[in-house]
Amino acid sequence: MTDYMTVDDTGVLPRDGTIKLHGPAGFAGMRKAGRLAAEILDALVPLVRPGLTTAALDDVVRQMTLDGGAVPATLGYRGYTHSCCISINHVVCHGIPSEKTLKDGDIVNIDVTPLLDGWHGDTSRMYLVGDVPLKARRLVEVTYECLMIGIEQARPGARLGDIGAAIQRHAEGHRYGVVREFCGHGLGRLFHDAPEVIHAARAGSGPELRAGMFFTIEPMINLGKPPVKLLEDGWTAVTRDRSLSAQFEHSIGITEDGCEVFTASPRGLNKPPYA
Ligand code: MF3
Ligand code: CO
Ligand code: CO
Repeated sequence: MTDYMTVDDTGVLPRDGTIKLHGPAGFAGMRKAGRLAAEILDALVPLVRPGLTTAALDDVVRQMTLDGGAVPATLGYRGYTHSCCISINHVVCHGIPSEKTLKDGDIVNIDVTPLLDGWHGDTSRMYLVGDVPLKARRLVEVTYECLMIGIEQARPGARLGDIGAAIQRHAEGHRYGVVREFCGHGLGRLFHDAPEVIHAARAGSGPELRAGMFFTIEPMINLGKPPVKLLEDGWTAVTRDRSLSAQFEHSIGITEDGCEVFTASPRGLNKPPYA
């Protein structure tokens, strides 16, 4: 059974599995947080080149987040000490910024979550470093299609599982693997909240989508098989078979007749190639 609660978009909210239904103030807050998140990803486009360290990119994300009047929600989150996640090649998600340098041919996900005026804008995109082989570029392109096909399902009356079903169908049609260990999530005044948005699901399953729900869709798609493993650092998730992995993430809100994407790029830089 699914519980929903209509919230007034001000006070503290329970983390008890209830799905929050937000009003106009929530949409306004998410619009601002989402826009800042997208502007940060836009600003990284010219910086992602061979030779740069991922720590340097993290510094830019932190500074832009603070300049935008926000704080990085990941900073201090469950012991995480960085302002974004940077996941290269076979890293599925939660790559930790470090002195490692980007190299020609890498595919890189950068995931940012500014917390602005109490609202979380959570988004990630893939970046191509220099000359990327066609096989990897295809994976990136199809992963973006998976995100957008998922978003197309998001409207009142649909089921959450319709999103995962559409994503899984598209990814597996290309013989890619859909990661099961990590999901999208409700968000708003909380960073990770109900519902869990699974990216491989049965159509018609899961909670009904209602106007006012806020959640992310963030499919992780592998060139090889779906399983991941966690590295010793407790954060970095990699593909078990060491195949390449790609991910895109948007934060959305269900409206009366569809959905609003809070984290769309103001400059149209939603996916590579960005040139
Ligand atoms: N931004 C990630 C997400 O999409 C969460 C990162 S949590 C961290 O949900 F601690 F790893 F940064
Ligand atoms: Co997320
Ligand atoms: Co994210």
